[in-house]
This record gives sequence, C-alpha cells and structure tokens, in this order.
Amino acid sequence: MRIRRALLFMPGDDRRKIEKGAALGVDSIIMDLEDGVAFNNKPAARATIFAALREVSFGRSEKLIRINPASSEFYEDDINATVHAHPDGYVVPKVEHGRQVQEISSWLLTAEHKHDWEEGSIALLAIIETAMGVVNLREIASSDPRLTALIFGAEDLASSIGAIRTPDGWEVFYARSKVVMHAKAFGMQALDTPFVSLAEADNDHLIAETEQALYMGYDGKLAIHPKQVDVIQRVFTPTSEQIAQAKRLVEAHEQRQRGGTGVFALDGRMVDMPMVRAAEKVLARARAAGIAV
Ligand code: COA
Ligand code: MG
Repeated sequence: MRIRRALLFMPGDDRRKIEKGAALGVDSIIMDLEDGVAFNNKPAARATIFAALREVSFGRSEKLIRINPASSEFYEDDINATVHAHPDGYVVPKVEHGRQVQEISSWLLTAEHKHDWEEGSIALLAIIETAMGVVNLREIASSDPRLTALIFGAEDLASSIGAIRTPDGWEVFYARSKVVMHAKAFGMQALDTPFVSLAEADNDHLIAETEQALYMGYDGKLAIHPKQVDVIQRVFTPTSEQIAQAKRLVEAHEQRQRGGTGVFALDGRMVDMPMVRAAEKVLARARAAGIAV
C-alpha cells in the first residue's frame, strides 16, 4: 500500500493551489469538488481538475479527487468529468452505506476497461463523518476491495451528532477510535481529520493532535495548508533513534529465539512478541518513507 502521511486538500477550482501543492513533495494531494467549491462553480472546478491532471507535473504525489457525496446530485458528473484523465483515486465524503462504495467502484471498473487500464488502478478512500457512517462502519469497511483507506472527518461528524468541538476532541473520540479499528480490521489505512486552525500559536496543538493520531494507529492526516505538510509528514516518519531502537529490539529477539527463549528483558523492559511486531511496524513505516533500514 502506498504511503499516505499527509494528504493536502485544495479547492478544485484553484489551479494556482493545485500547482503549488503538486510542487511540495507531499505524499498525496486531494483536489476538492465538495465543500471547498461553491455550488455554482462545480462545473468549472471539474474542468480545472481535468486540465491539471493532464498538464501539471505531480512528481511522486498521489493525485486524488474528492467528489460530492453519493447522496448528492453532483457526484456522477464529478466522476464522469474527471475519470478519463486517470486520477490515482477518489475520496468519497459522507459515506453511509457499503452500496455507495460498490456503485462508484463499478463505474470505475467500467472506465478502467474502456481505457485498458489495470483493474483496481483507481483507488477509493471513504470519509466517515456522519452518525450513520459511524454506525455502519463494518458494512462500509467490508464493502469493496477497491477501498484502500478510511478517513475520519471530525467537523462534519460533530455537526451530524450535535457535538460541540473542543481542543481535546473527546466529543469525537469514539468515532475516531472506531474508524481506525475498522480500517485495520479490514486491512486498510486510517487517515485522520484535518486540523483547521492555521494560527502560528496553534502549531504545538497540530503536532500534539498528529502525534495522538499516530499513537492511535493512524497512518496519516489530512492537511489544509502547505505549512502543515512537513509537520505532519515528520510525525508519521520514524526518527533515526526510533529506527535504531526498533532494529536493536528485533535483532535481540531473533538472537534469543535462536537460543530458545521467547521473552527477555532489554534496557529494563520486558520484550515479547507484541513489542517485536510493533518494532517491525516502525521499520516498515521507515521503509515506506524511503529510509534504508
Ligand atoms: N494547497 C496549495 N497551496 C495553498 C493551499 C493549499 N491548501 N493553501 C494555501 N496555499 C498557498 C496560497 O496559494 C499562497 O500562495 P501564493 O501566495 O503564492 O498564492 C500560500 O500558500 C499562502 O497561503 P495563505 O495566504 O496563507 O492562505 P490563503 O488565505 O490563500 O488560503 C485557505 C487559506 C484556508 C483558503 C487555504 O489554505 C485553502 O484553500 N485550504 C484548503 C481548503 C480546502 O480545500 N478545504 C476543503 C477540505 S477541508
Ligand atoms: Mg466533510
């Protein structure tokens, strides 16, 4: 699965931001057709994205498009107007039922056949951000093999359930936890909600919220401004100390295994299989980030 530490959003009708985002070296960029675009500008935004996919060099960044919800009048046109430029995937907001994912997936299959593209080469990422989406997580997570990630959306969820957002986010913690649990149960990535403050004074809060997502098992976090990208990608990239420690732990474990011992102490802490698996995950994250380990 490709690495998605930071996913930078920009309005799909803003060519300048698309070009700026494409030059940043961010893992994924998401050109938006939903809430970042005014109703009367959806057609222009579709055309802007189509042209950008043809003309802009995105480097190693994944090219994603957020369409309008499957319950809206816009999403079919969103796909029809952009799919023939072969984006890497679509982000589907406000997903509430597995059949919504299946329907979009079957359209993508038709486009893939038409162009002789590899089946499944256009990915789907679902945003869980309504009460119904959270309640139906199991059905959604198991709906279609094209689904590669679940994204947690805190702001829409709060409005869906009548919660009031607070700095600690306990009002959405159940859903944030449930999304990561379902993503991992069904072999997908989990991607965390964007941090919406752009104030310098809130930078430490952005770091803390991103670290908490990492600690919970999230693989990445959405971003809404270029200045958030490095902060987020850094948090999701293991440090050289963490890599060295993980290697030491795995090597010590292999040595003990050969000697017939399963559990042992290293630096005053017990080590057995769960810690070894966690260390292997750190090394896998490092490799995915392009670090030789
Ligand atoms: N992607 C790419 N470039 C961006 C960007 C983004 N998300 N946000 C800002 N930039 C660029 C601006 O174009 C500007 O570059 P320029 O001066 O060369 O034109 C530079 O970064 C600094 O931007 P700044 O002045 O700090 O922000 P702004 O006032 O222009 O825009 C927002 C603020 C919030 C409107 C903008 O960050 C944005 O559009 N974010 C994404 C919103 C979105 O897509 N929401 C839907 C999903 S939640
Ligand atoms: Mg939303």
